[in-house]
Amino acid sequence: MADKKFELTDLASGKKSLLPVKSGTIGPDVLDIAAINRDHGVFTHDPGFGFTSACESRITYIDGDAGVLLHRGYPIEQLAEKSSFMEVCYLLLNGELPNRPDLEKFTNDIQHHTMLNESLLRFYNGFHHNAHPMAMVSAVIASMSAFYHDSMDIHNPRNREIFAHRIIAKIPTIAAAAHKHSLGQPFVYPRNDLSYCANMLNMFFAVPCEPYYIDPVAAEALDLLFILHADHEQNASTSTVRLAGSTGANPYAAISAGVAALWGPAHGGANEAVLSMLEQIGTVENIPKYIAMAKDKNSHFRLMGFGHRVYKNFDPRAKIIRGACHKVLESLGQTSNPLFELALSLEELALKDDYFIERKLYPNVDFYSGVIYSALGIPRSMFTVMFAIARTVGWVAHWQEMISDPAMRIGRPRQLYTGSVKRDYVGVEKR
Ligand code: SDX
Repeated sequence: MADKKFELTDLASGKKSLLPVKSGTIGPDVLDIAAINRDHGVFTHDPGFGFTSACESRITYIDGDAGVLLHRGYPIEQLAEKSSFMEVCYLLLNGELPNRPDLEKFTNDIQHHTMLNESLLRFYNGFHHNAHPMAMVSAVIASMSAFYHDSMDIHNPRNREIFAHRIIAKIPTIAAAAHKHSLGQPFVYPRNDLSYCANMLNMFFAVPCEPYYIDPVAAEALDLLFILHADHEQNASTSTVRLAGSTGANPYAAISAGVAALWGPAHGGANEAVLSMLEQIGTVENIPKYIAMAKDKNSHFRLMGFGHRVYKNFDPRAKIIRGACHKVLESLGQTSNPLFELALSLEELALKDDYFIERKLYPNVDFYSGVIYSALGIPRSMFTVMFAIARTVGWVAHWQEMISDPAMRIGRPRQLYTGSVKRDYVGVEKR
């Protein structure tokens, strides 16, 4: 098939240039826009990169209008129903679902890399007890680059694999240590005989004074939530990891940058903000007042957990989590959960409102996840940390894909300059 091209004409000068079109396996084509600057001396301008393809990737595909999410081609609904977080980690990192021996070896590798260097555990003592755990987690991950700088040849595939296993294995330990520090309780060491999520629960909630019962319902709920948060294409935090990694920086530093970006309430910090919002709303009777505030441009209030840059339909992950809420709450004996009832009413009323319908604002992944985290006894300040634990594998998969791409270049966007034209310095005595 003849190469597809777009023609661009500068109407003022009549100058034309041809822009090659590149097609993926599914989804919109992209325009190679290099000729725009070469032939016309201009840049494209796309604040927030809403209409810009920053890279080629084979990991995740999203169709925002259809509410479709595929990981290496597999629909999120099927992975949520049939897979496990360890299997999804293998899939995202390697591109294919593992056979049983490969899955067992991968799981064993992760289980045997969960301990932290004892010196890293001492970092937590430098934080005040009320430090936000996202600050502790991003700092400790960045500090890992001080410990593993000598075994980190990013162009060595084996070094990249060791990094991937280390950070995926250790992020729950790092998160649990932050939680224990905030409680003033002793750290609980990881156990190699427990599954990824059972180990997490044990490190979060066990205390030395008594045995801790690991509820399989809770472990299963966490496994599902981690599958649903594992990766999401070129979102803000993943793009941050790619940009930081494109400089050749130590990958632990790049992941730490991803944690920092995820923390924002417009991104992963929304799950924590949703719970605060629901508590602020308080009752179903108050919902209309808050929906009015969300629509009022003069108020800075937004319905947290609503809207998405890409999804202009239901976020498929929100649907799955909403369904899981019913099952998890019932299994945990919380048949009447006021937060969940309020969230359901808020969704129902908002989706009947023209403002939300016209702007295609639907619940996103963060709208219901906090209901389950709360039901599991995880404190609100740890919700975004839970998101970071799951998203670490996505960040690593994208970092690996970028670093192993021979065509990789340092990321360096341009700008539209609207500042002062050139002017000469004036001494202070003349100002
Ligand atoms: C995640 O990118 C990813 O994939 C992210 C993520 C992932 O898995 O990595 O999916 C995870 O970050 C989910 C999003 C979590 N954030 C929130 O729930 C915070 C609340 N939502 C918003 O702030 C907002 O919807 C964003 C940030 C998610 C998307 O912002 P956009 O794409 O820049 O949209 P916008 O701000 O331009 O909004 C378009 C219109 C505006 O109104 P108008 O100017 O057209 O009149 O919709 C309005 C906005 O004011 N709007 C909202 C709203 N979200 C958008 N109004 C009220 N409440 C909201 N939540």
